[in-house]
This record gives sequence, C-alpha cells and structure tokens, in this order.
Amino acid sequence: MTTKEKNLLDLAKLYLPGGSNGNAITMDIIIEKGLGPKVWDIHGNEYIDYSLGSGPMLLGHSHPEVVDAVSSQITKGTTYFGLNKHMIDLAEEIISAVPCAESIRFANSGSEATFFAMRAARAFTQKEKILKFEGGFHGMSDYALMSMMPGKPQDFPIPTPDCEGIPESIRENVLIAPYNNSQITKQIIEKNHNEIGGIIVEPIQRVIPPKIEFLQSIRELATKYKIPLIFDEIVTGFRLDYGGAQTYYGVTPDICTLGKALSGGFPISAITGKKEIMEYFSSKNMSQNELVLQEGTMNGNPLCSIAALTTLKILKRPNTYKKLKQTGSQFIKAIKEKLFEFEIPAQITGEFCLFDIVFQNDPVVDYRSMLNRDKIKTKKLNKSLLDQGIYKNHSKYYLSTSHSEKEIEKTIDAIQLSFQKI
Ligand SMILES: Cc1ncc(COP(=O)(O)O)c(C=O)c1O
Repeated sequence: MTTKEKNLLDLAKLYLPGGSNGNAITMDIIIEKGLGPKVWDIHGNEYIDYSLGSGPMLLGHSHPEVVDAVSSQITKGTTYFGLNKHMIDLAEEIISAVPCAESIRFANSGSEATFFAMRAARAFTQKEKILKFEGGFHGMSDYALMSMMPGKPQDFPIPTPDCEGIPESIRENVLIAPYNNSQITKQIIEKNHNEIGGIIVEPIQRVIPPKIEFLQSIRELATKYKIPLIFDEIVTGFRLDYGGAQTYYGVTPDICTLGKALSGGFPISAITGKKEIMEYFSSKNMSQNELVLQEGTMNGNPLCSIAALTTLKILKRPNTYKKLKQTGSQFIKAIKEKLFEFEIPAQITGEFCLFDIVFQNDPVVDYRSMLNRDKIKTKKLNKSLLDQGIYKNHSKYYLSTSHSEKEIEKTIDAIQLSFQKI
C-alpha cells in the first residue's frame, strides 16, 4: 500500500461511517479506473472484475459507444426535469423488449423502483400487505428490508426486520414465504389473499435459480386472486436475455422493475408493467384519491436515458447473449472441474452470467438451505482471489460481455491456486 493510498483510506475512515459507502467489497482498495473487464486501484494494481459495479457493467467498464453517447449529451445539458427525447425512445425500446411492459416510469435506483412497484400494486388492489420471499433482496426501503437476511428465521409468514430504524408497523404489512416452495406459498396466499396487495419476487433469488413450476405457481395464484405479481428484475433485466428473466424462464409478471444492466453504469431504473396498474401513476386518468405519486428530480434525465438507450442498442446485437452464455458456461464448467479435482464439497449455483461457488453438499433451493454453508471457505477463497487480482462481490460472480477466454483462464488459474491453499 502506498502512502497516498493509506492517507486516503485514513480520510475515508474519518469521514465515512465505517470507512465505507455502505457497499465496499474490501476496505483496503480504492478503485481509480475501470476499462472492459478490469479495474485498477490507485496504486496501479490491475484486477479482473467480476463485481461489475455490483452488476451494472454488463458491457464492461467504459464501453466506448456508451462513453461517446454520454459525452455528446453532456454538452447539451444533463437534466431538464421535463420530457426529453431519449427518455421517450428508451420507453419505446423497453416496452418492445420486455413481455410485461406496456407502460413505463423511470426512477434512479433499484430501491426506488421496487418501492414504487409495491406502492402501485397496493393502490391497484386497495390491499396493504406485500408478500415477499425470505432471503429476497429488493433494495433498502422499509418494506424490502424484511426477512432479507434473518439471523433467526421465524415461522412463515412472520417477517423479521433486517435492521434498526424500521417502524414496527411495517411488520403488519409484510408476509414472508419460502422461495421455491410452491406448497407453503400457496397456503399463505390462500389464507391471506384478501389482504395481499402485491407479490414481489426476484426471479433468480440472489444466486438461487427458480424452479420453473414455482414461478408458474405464483403466477397462477396471483392471477386467480387478482394480486399483481412483481418481478424484481433489477439484477436479471437485460442480463439473462434481452427480455430479462421473464423471457428466459417464460413466466410473465404484471409489473417488473429494471435497473443495473439497463444503463451501462448510469443511475436509472424503471417500473414497467400492465397499463391498468401503471395508469395509477397518471394524474390525467386517476382521481386525486386514486393517484399514486411517482416523481423524482432526476427521473428519466437525458444523460442516463441515452446511456441506457446506447447500452440496449449494443446488447441487442446478434449473438450477444449466446456468446455470454458460452463464456459463462465454459467458466462454470472449468470451476466445477477444479472442485472435482480437489474433492471440495461445493456446488455452483446461479446462471451463466451470475453465480457463486457455495461450499456445501446439500442442494441450494432457498435462504434456509444455505444457512449452513461453509462461509469461512468462501471468505478465504475471496481473499485469496483478491490477492491474485480477482475482484468480486462476497457472494456472486457477475460476468460481462467484455470478459474473454484470456480473463477466464487467468481466473481459473487463480481459483486453482486458492483451492490448493484452502
Ligand atoms: C434484486 C435487487 N433489487 C433491488 C436492488 C436495489 O437496487 P439499487 O442498489 O440500485 O437501489 C438490488 C441491488 O442490488 C437488487 O439486487
């Protein structure tokens, strides 16, 4: 560590609670630049990046076409509050790509988008409770931070607040079900459907893939009881496929939220879905007591909108997802071979573009099924990889279209060395 780096880290400790922005993968590195599949710290160390800014950089860092598009907009102004052409073009492109999308509103982050989606669902149904799944992550709102990572999980459907500062009253408005468990989820919905205003689910919960029958069963129950089904596609949108997880798994929700991969690293998110629900955001069509407010200073600003439009233009090109899938599948196969070679009790869970190595033998199907995984091994592996120039989130590898065989090979070498050590 250089003196410059140390001084900056000391300042971070002085000024930022916990010395971090709340996100840090490690508190010992300050990132200075990112290009393609790599990032560099201020010391000049190079890392192959599987964090991708926690997901947004699906095209890799600083994609030249996104940079050009954004640069050309910057000289024309960055935000106007009113309508702009890029936002309208972006709305059209998303609606043509995403199966559930008929009408759309923009916000700035995933947390906002899921918050507004839940609010719209409650207004539409005139029912207050939200059903969410244990271990599901939907951002930082009070509703989302219920049983996202309960230390002592309670009996379903009782929620546990994930942090301090969440009003007691929120507990009354959230029900918790086990992900991938159609039977218990059905029981909870059947018992409480008169009070459930919306069902929110990550189509892939963190790195746990869905059983297709589970997604289908919540779709059927939501339809039966006229409860809006919200897919939180902040992670999966435009990542698994151009039409997101709903295209990939063939199950269409009523509303979905989009963010991260949508925009090449610029802060924009979206709430999109059926017109009859989205209309609640319209002051023209709704009376004052029906209207759902959804306003934001930077919503749909031209800078983020053109970044997103350009990102989508690139992602839409032929073979983008085919190639990403090939690279991801090869990567996963190579890790599996190493696990086998070293006889390590572990599995890879997730999909080709987002996955993790979980050190346990029992199948990973929901939050509780992962509670006994060997977290120490994961920590050791992550530390060893970081020391070898592999930068990733604690519990996920995100793959970008810019990762080539070269980076994958280097990573596999680092994984092999780490397995030897642990
Ligand atoms: C599924 C999901 N929903 C919502 C969010 C919140 O998004 P943001 O961090 O942009 O607020 C995240 C963030 O990781 C997420 O993974």
